[in-house]
Amino acid sequence: MNKTDFMTGWLPKSATPGASAEHFAPSNIALCKYWGKRDTELNLPVNGSLSVSLDHLGSRTRVEPIDGETDSVWLNGTQQRPDSRFAKRVSAFIDLFRIYHPEQAFRVTTENNIPTAAGLASSASGFAALTKAMNDAFKLELSDTELSVMARMGSGSACRSLFDGFVEWQMGVREDGMDSYALPLEQCWPGLCVGLIHVDENEKSVDSRAGMQRTKETAHLYQSWPMQAAADLSKLQQAIAERDFALLGSVAEQNALSMHATMIASWPPLLYWQPDSVAAMQKIWKLRAEGLALYFTMDAGPNLKLLFEDASRGAVEAQFPGLEVVQPFGI
Ligand code: PMV
Repeated sequence: MNKTDFMTGWLPKSATPGASAEHFAPSNIALCKYWGKRDTELNLPVNGSLSVSLDHLGSRTRVEPIDGETDSVWLNGTQQRPDSRFAKRVSAFIDLFRIYHPEQAFRVTTENNIPTAAGLASSASGFAALTKAMNDAFKLELSDTELSVMARMGSGSACRSLFDGFVEWQMGVREDGMDSYALPLEQCWPGLCVGLIHVDENEKSVDSRAGMQRTKETAHLYQSWPMQAAADLSKLQQAIAERDFALLGSVAEQNALSMHATMIASWPPLLYWQPDSVAAMQKIWKLRAEGLALYFTMDAGPNLKLLFEDASRGAVEAQFPGLEVVQPFGI
């Protein structure tokens, strides 16, 4: 099924653009990663995933209907060329909503307070905020579940950025993807900390979309990934229910390294790590051997996200000066 067929079957004919709207959505960090699609058109995943949202770090997006033939897309104060990858993705996503009004152009303004495209999941918060803004602009009154389905079509991980706290994306089995959406978990974890190490904030050359496709098509190792992800997902649910930090940290770290192993085993190989990424991993393993409860995860980029609890915050900050720390559930 292609996106246009899906939208014509689903979007009410009354969907008419009118209002300006503005929304914020948080970035999210996956503890069990989404890596690989079973349907590239609708962004349907091979495995379920689980993330934690980053509270105040994310994207604020404003949409305004404008006169004119093309969308005007702004990112962090700079107008993007209409043929840029970013503007094309934004416009293609808006096309899904204006299916009955293709003539309607929009000005889209996004401000990220996280580095763009450096493995810090800014496309997730951006598409989640844009989905909420489009919902208002077209007065659709979609439910949270429907918003999550729509955001998923912009960027898979965006379906999790609709919610705060721990969020699970259920992979679903349906061909139209209506059962593939994210839900917030009830549990919270006061004192849980995510620390962001900025190894490199330059835009990566192979984005997640291309990277996961290459891995799925060329890495034999990828065959074991769906099984590992399913096992990790249930261990993480257990860790969260029992507030077992060692289990949470070790499962998240192994899950991330397993995902990276499949990337490295693809062809041409995909290695997002830089020397500073490896140095940080080795430092974390040494500190852990010395008794510090510190783990990491990383997405398709060179930056590490540290996982620790509030009780260790002073010790971690002393080892990683300038670390940006987020406490998604407060102290
Ligand atoms: O949503 P995408 O297409 O940007 O893919 C995200 C992939 C990872 O960040 C590596 C994993 C995840 O679950 O967020």
